[in-house]
Amino acid sequence: MCGIIGYVGREPAAPILLDGLERMEYRGYDSAGIAVRSETRGLQVKKAKGRLKALYDLTHGGADMEGTLGIGHTRWATHGEPNDINAHPHISENGQIALVHNGIIENYLELKEHLLRQGVTFTSDTDSEVVAQLLEFHYNECHNMLEAVGRCLRRIEGSYAFGIICADYPNALIAARKDAPLLLGYGDGENYIASDVTAILKHTRKVSYMDDGEIAVVTNDSIDVFDSELEPVEKTICQVDWDVASAEKGGYPHFMLKEIMEQPEAIRKTVSPRIRDGRIVLDELHLTREDVAAFARIFIIACGSSYHVGMVSKYNWERLLRRPVEVMLASEFRYCDPLVDERTLVIVISQSGETLDTMAAMREAKRRGGRTLAIVNVVGSSIAREADDVLYTWAGPEIAVATTKAYSTQLVLMDLVGLYFAEELGTVDEETYAAVLAEIQLLPEKMQVFLEHTEDVQYLASRYFNHDSIFFIGRNLDYAMGMEGSLKLKEISYIHSEAYASGELKHGTISLIEQGTLVVALGTYAPLFDKAMSNVVEVKARGAEVLALTTEDLAEKVSKTADATIAVPVTHPILQPSLGVVPLQLFAYYVALQRGCDIDKPRNLAKSVTVE
Ligand code: AGP
Repeated sequence: MCGIIGYVGREPAAPILLDGLERMEYRGYDSAGIAVRSETRGLQVKKAKGRLKALYDLTHGGADMEGTLGIGHTRWATHGEPNDINAHPHISENGQIALVHNGIIENYLELKEHLLRQGVTFTSDTDSEVVAQLLEFHYNECHNMLEAVGRCLRRIEGSYAFGIICADYPNALIAARKDAPLLLGYGDGENYIASDVTAILKHTRKVSYMDDGEIAVVTNDSIDVFDSELEPVEKTICQVDWDVASAEKGGYPHFMLKEIMEQPEAIRKTVSPRIRDGRIVLDELHLTREDVAAFARIFIIACGSSYHVGMVSKYNWERLLRRPVEVMLASEFRYCDPLVDERTLVIVISQSGETLDTMAAMREAKRRGGRTLAIVNVVGSSIAREADDVLYTWAGPEIAVATTKAYSTQLVLMDLVGLYFAEELGTVDEETYAAVLAEIQLLPEKMQVFLEHTEDVQYLASRYFNHDSIFFIGRNLDYAMGMEGSLKLKEISYIHSEAYASGELKHGTISLIEQGTLVVALGTYAPLFDKAMSNVVEVKARGAEVLALTTEDLAEKVSKTADATIAVPVTHPILQPSLGVVPLQLFAYYVALQRGCDIDKPRNLAKSVTVE
C-alpha cells in the first residue's frame, strides 16, 4: 500500500521526508519520490523506481533539495507499471503544483479525456496525475488552492489520501482523504501529514485522524481542517503511546520473529483489561443484553488472516451461542446481496482497519441496517471510526506484512466476546464460563513455554524447506487453524500450499498425495483426534511424509504413525488454535529463512490492502 508523508517547518524537508518514507517501507512499494518547495528553485521533484535507496542516492540523502516544505510518497502500483515516470509526486503541467496520492480514482479516464480536450498534456499512465492536472485547471479558475481542491474533490470518484504543495504557497501544504488513511501530526513550529504514525513518531506523538471528505491546510504553526463544504472542523488531538523502539526490530533479525515472540504479551494486554473479578467486562461495547438477544443472524466479515480468525470463531461461537454464525470473505460479501437487516450483527475483523474490501463490506452492512462491531488493531483507523462499536486488540504496531500477533490477539478477543455474548444469552453454564476464562488467562504463559523451545520447529523447517507443495489437513478447529498455517507458509516462503478438511480428502484431492508429499496433519482438537489420526493413516498409505501437530498429552500416540511430531501445551478445546498456530507461524518463518526469502516484505504483498 502507498505511503504518504508531508512536512512544513523550519528544518530542511527532504531528509525528514526520506526518513519517514523509510519507516513506511514495510507497507510494500515499488517506487518512491519527494517534492520540496524552494524559494529559489520553485518545486523540485525527485523520484525513482525500486527501493528507497535509489531515491537516497539520487538526492544525496536529500542534501540536493533545499526548502522546508515538502511531500513524499512510496508507491504500490495500481494504474501504470512501476517506473520513474509513474512514481509520485505528480506535477501539474505548469510545474506549479505537486501531488502524492494513495487510493484509486475510479473516474480518472473521463476526467483525463476532459482535460485532454482542454489541451492538457500528460506524462504518466497513472490515475493520480489526472488529479494534479485537474487541480491546476481549477486553480487557474479561482486562484485559491483550498477552493481548487474543494472543486476537484467534488468531481473525482474513488478513494484517496492526497498531499499537495503549490509553488505559490511557501508555507502551506494541503491534505485530503476519503477511504484511505491520512493523519495530521502536530509539532512545535512544524507540522506533518502521514499515512501511518510510524512515519512521524520520531518527531511527534500528537496526531489527529482525518475523516472522509475532510481537507486540511497545514502550515508550520497551524493546522486548519475543513469539511467538503469548506466549513471548519474541530479535530481531536490524540497522544500516541507507542514507543519508537516497539516499532523497531528490538534485536530480532526480522519484525515477523519479533512479533511472534511478542504474542504472549500482546494477548495479555488485550485480555487483562477486560477481565475483572472473574467476569468479562467490555466497557467499550454499547450492546445491551436485549440487543444481543435480538440478533437473528451473525456475520463475520474479513480478509486473509483476519478471515481465518472468523473461521475459528464460527466453530466456537456456534458452540457457545447456539446461533447461526456465517463467515464470509469481505470481497464476496459486498456483491452477494447479503441477508442483512436490523436484526443482524456484523463483526468486521481487521488488523489495519484500512482494508478497503472490509471497509466497503462494513458500509454495505450498515446501509442494510446491520449493527457493526469492529475488531481492529490500529487505533483511530477508518474501520474503527466508522463501526457502530469497536473493540481494539492491543497488539501494538505490527510491521511484518505476514500477521502473527494481530491474528493471535484477534483470535483471543473473539473467544472473549463469544463467551461474553454466551453469558448474556444464558447459553453457557457457569462451569464452562469459568473454565474457559481461566484458560484464556493462562494462554500467555503456555505460549511462552512453547516459544522458549523453538529448536524442534527450526530443525523440521530445515528438513522440509525444499518441498514445492504442502498440505495442511485437519478437522473442525484444526481445519480452520490450518488455513492460517497454510497462508503464512505461502506468503513468506512462496511454497504452494493448501489447507484441507481432512475428512474431505477422500472425495478427490487425495489423488494429489504421492510418495513424499508433505502433509502437516493437525490433531490438536481433542474431540476429533481419533478421526484426525485415521486421516493420517490414509495419507501415509499413499506415500505422504507426515508432520503432525498435536497436544503434549497426545504426542506419544501420534509419533507412532507420523514421521515427525510437534506438540503444544493443552488448553481448553475452543482455545487450542491459539496455541497450535504458533508452531505453524514459526514453521513458515524458518522455512522462508532457509529459502532466503524477504520475510518482512514478501513479494507482491502489502501490509494493508487499500485497493479492491
Ligand atoms: C496476513 O498475513 C496478510 N498480511 C493478509 O492476509 C491480511 O490478513 C489481510 O490483508 C487482512 O488485513 P487486515 O487484517 O489489516 O484487514
